[in-house]
Amino acid sequence: MTLPPAASLHDPAESFYSHWQALNDWLILHRPLWQSAPFMEPVPGWTRDYPGLARLVAGLGDRQCDALDDDPAELASLAGEYLPTLTAYSQLVELPDLSPSAHEVARATLPEVRAVDMPGRKRQQSGAFAAAVQPLRESVLDWCCGKGHLSRTLAAGCPEPVRGFEWNAELVRDGNRLAVQAGAAVSVQCQDVMAPDLALPANVHGVALHACGDLHRQLIRVGSEAGLPRLSVSPCCYHLTDARPYRPLSHRSASCDNRLELSPNDIRLAVQETVTAPARVRAQTRLVSQWRLGFDGLQRELRGCDDYLPVPSHPSRLIHEGFEGFCRWAAGKKKLALPDTTDFEHWREVGERRWRQVRRHELVRHLFRRPLELWIVLDYAVFLEERGYRVRLGEFCDRTLTPRNLLLDAVRVSGIPPVEHNRP
Ligand SMILES: C[S@@+](CC[C@H](N)C(=O)[O-])C[C@H]1O[C@@H](n2cnc3c(N)ncnc32)[C@H](O)[C@@H]1O
Repeated sequence: MTLPPAASLHDPAESFYSHWQALNDWLILHRPLWQSAPFMEPVPGWTRDYPGLARLVAGLGDRQCDALDDDPAELASLAGEYLPTLTAYSQLVELPDLSPSAHEVARATLPEVRAVDMPGRKRQQSGAFAAAVQPLRESVLDWCCGKGHLSRTLAAGCPEPVRGFEWNAELVRDGNRLAVQAGAAVSVQCQDVMAPDLALPANVHGVALHACGDLHRQLIRVGSEAGLPRLSVSPCCYHLTDARPYRPLSHRSASCDNRLELSPNDIRLAVQETVTAPARVRAQTRLVSQWRLGFDGLQRELRGCDDYLPVPSHPSRLIHEGFEGFCRWAAGKKKLALPDTTDFEHWREVGERRWRQVRRHELVRHLFRRPLELWIVLDYAVFLEERGYRVRLGEFCDRTLTPRNLLLDAVRVSGIPPVEHNRP
């Protein structure tokens, strides 16, 4: 496998594309590891192909699992002993740090007293994003702006008024009210950004903080088509798309012969992170997963069939009814009769054991979250370069503030006409 050469700042077009290509090849090479479904398959295929790796993860303690889930580079290096191509991980996910100094971030972040109605994490994310895109020269268009938290943050350091597009009328009302209350030069407009007749204001700097899937792709597409002077996007929820299968935006990636094909479900792995979920939520998710796995063991025995049986999402009240209540509800949904002799305690323990195993197999899958995300975002960078932009791609804040911490910052290079490609 060829890895990208050290990124060349003098030829960003080449480095973004070659980085994308190296990730593409690496992801294809390791497909069985990230396309496995540990929740449904007690023995994923890769555990037979790489028994050393399977033994490594099976031998990890719970704390080691937590630590390695937060430190995939360390996991890749340990796992590299059994599958040496995994050691390329660190090089493949390395990106420039686009976060300015703590002082600059503090200056760009609204003080708490002026951040009315703004959740603490959103206030800090908006501040970090605003600091990373300074200086602002044009008037700003905040894409899918919600209540305009980012708009108000940006307005404090922007020479021109900030405009927001948002389609939810209630959020638009709140956004305008909060702007007036704060004395911020912000106006939020009710607008569906996917509307076919969308009229983009000329010469604005388009920004999007966590606009989901097709929404941020729409800004990248229509914003560059309109030749907006600058586009700054921190993408999220890549799997929210109407495209089946997912198709890269750039001509170069889309026409690559050996291109990875991703379903929305594959893409979902890129955003499967819970670093910001409160401990209580994580504990509850774990308990329900154990119950589901316990019921899975029970249903396999009852049906005499070693296949996973999908169970729909459960009503939240079930969490108070214990494992037995859960099994009775799930059996009802799947029209399975539970014998009076069912040993619920046994199956609850089976669920706990299976969960520990799934946790360790998932650890291996999680190694591919950032590479999949980068495969998608590097293609955006290549696309913007094809359209005549100079692009920076890096991290605008620490992932503990938000795991969706990538920033794509593209400035239109005057004099370079966008490359026209006819899509096949
Ligand atoms: C995840 S929120 C991000 C909000 C804001 N950028 C922030 O960081 O606080 C996505 C926003 O997109 C809005 N939205 C969804 N679809 C939209 C559409 N087609 N047109 C405009 N806004 C849309 C939602 O109502 C929501 O406010």
